[in-house]
Amino acid sequence: MNTEAFLKQRLICVAVIDKVDDAVPLAEALLAGGMNVIEVTFRTAGAAESIAQIRQHVPQIFVGAGTLLTPDQVKQAVDAGSQFGVSPGLSEAVSRAAQANQLPLFPGCITPTEVMHALELGWKHLKFFPAETAGGVNTLKSLIGPFGHTGVKFIPTGGITAATLPSYLAIPQVAAIGGSWMAERKLVADKAWTKISELAAEAMRIVSVSQTK
Ligand code: 3PG
Repeated sequence: MNTEAFLKQRLICVAVIDKVDDAVPLAEALLAGGMNVIEVTFRTAGAAESIAQIRQHVPQIFVGAGTLLTPDQVKQAVDAGSQFGVSPGLSEAVSRAAQANQLPLFPGCITPTEVMHALELGWKHLKFFPAETAGGVNTLKSLIGPFGHTGVKFIPTGGITAATLPSYLAIPQVAAIGGSWMAERKLVADKAWTKISELAAEAMRIVSVSQTK
C-alpha cells in the first residue's frame, strides 16, 4: 500500500485498547469525527484482535499497529491485517521483520545518528518520539536541517495536544502527527464515544485551517 494514502489526513490517533469490544466503537467514533487513521498499540493483550475487528467491521479507517518491539509482534500485527506499523525506537530486528512482511514501518528516531541508521535501513517516514519532551518543534527543526534534502519525513508523537498541533502542522517535513489526546485510554475505557468524536472533529478542523495557510 502507498504510505502517502494513510498519511494524507495528517493525523494518527494512538490508542490503547483495554477491551477488544471497545475497538469497533472507538474506530466508529473517530470516523464520525472525520478521522480515518488509528494506531492500536501493542501494550494490551487484545491489540491484535482489536486490529482484526476494526479491519473487518470499519474498513473505512486505516489501522496500524503501534509499540512494535519484537519481530513476533510484527508478525501478529500483519496477521491481524495491520496496514502500517509503528515502533517507539529503531530496531534492526523489527525493521527486517516489517520489510519481510511488506509492512510500512515508522520507526522512532530522536537523534541524527538514529535518523541516519533509519535511512540506511530504507525508511523514509520516521516517528519523532517523544516529541514534546525531546524539545518539540525546535528540536525537530534542528533535526530536519541536515536531513530535509534527503526526502525524510517525520511523524512527531508524544505529548502533542490540540494546542500544540498547529506548530507541527506548519513544518513541511512533517508527514503526520500522532497523538492520543482525542482518544485517551480513560475516554476509551469510559466508552466516551461522543466526546472522542468531538475531539477528533476539533483536531480535523485544526488540520483544515492549517491547510488554508
Ligand atoms: C506513543 O506511543 O506514540 C505515545 O504514547 C503517544 O503519545 P501521547 O499519548 O503523548 O499522545
